[in-house]
Amino acid sequence: MPTEKSQDTLEVRVRRIHRRDLNRTWEFLKLVFRDVNRETVEYQRPRSKRRFMEVYTSDWIEQLLYEVDGEIVGYSECAFEATGDDNWVNPRWFEKRGMRPLFVEELAVHPDYQGRGVGSFMMDQLQHLARTRGCTHLVLEVAENNEAALAWYRARNFYKLDAAIFMAQKVPGEPDLLPPRRIKRRPKVAPDAEGSPNNGPMPETVMVRVGGGRRGRAGAKKGG
Ligand SMILES: CC(C)(COP(=O)(O)OP(=O)(O)OC[C@H]1O[C@@H](n2cnc3c(N)ncnc32)[C@H](O)[C@@H]1OP(=O)(O)O)[C@@H](O)C(=O)NCCC(=O)NCCS
Repeated sequence: MPTEKSQDTLEVRVRRIHRRDLNRTWEFLKLVFRDVNRETVEYQRPRSKRRFMEVYTSDWIEQLLYEVDGEIVGYSECAFEATGDDNWVNPRWFEKRGMRPLFVEELAVHPDYQGRGVGSFMMDQLQHLARTRGCTHLVLEVAENNEAALAWYRARNFYKLDAAIFMAQKVPGEPDLLPPRRIKRRPKVAPDAEGSPNNGPMPETVMVRVGGGRRGRAGAKKGG
């Protein structure tokens, strides 16, 4: 069926990924997640190129590319099973609740195309895939401080599951190294009349500093 063309619109096409697309898709993902990953505790996937390449060989993962005139503008990855060696999802949790989830592992739109409806098209595609495969829910993980994405999901009726949140408690801090300590100055050696040293006491004290590359030599400088 011919699609309507207009000067004001661009046509986004979706297709399954091929092996020959993997390298440029990886470059695309690095670009999209560069800023996001800087701000989040967990890596927003994918973590490594090796892992990304492995995904391609998984039977239960669907990787889709979205293109405008042959250029990648979007990528989505979804899994029909919560498996994989970096997965902490407990499938029983969903079974108990009668849910058959489609796990959305990745959703990425090129920065130049964000806010232009590509993400909405991708979400419609994933909803469609879920329906045709008998899934009841789309399930995904998003960093709490990825505020733009979180707001975007909430606006599309995603709700929070009973999942882990990252917590941290501050450990009261003490420096490893002790503060400076005052010690006695070495008595000044002054020759007496017969030429023997005068060992009389010198009540001054000096500072010895510890730590850093250079160790203080006692008596070398007057302490402050
Ligand atoms: C989140 C993301 C997938 C949304 O896709 P998108 O193509 O930008 O979204 P759409 O154009 O379909 O939706 C536009 C809506 O999103 C909002 N929006 C979200 N992020 C935006 C952005 N970076 N630029 C512009 N609008 C954005 C707009 O306000 C607009 O709201 P509206 O629907 O109320 O008008 C996409 O911005 C993205 O890839 N972000 C970076 C990667 C990321 O964080 N992915 C999710 C990790 S879990």
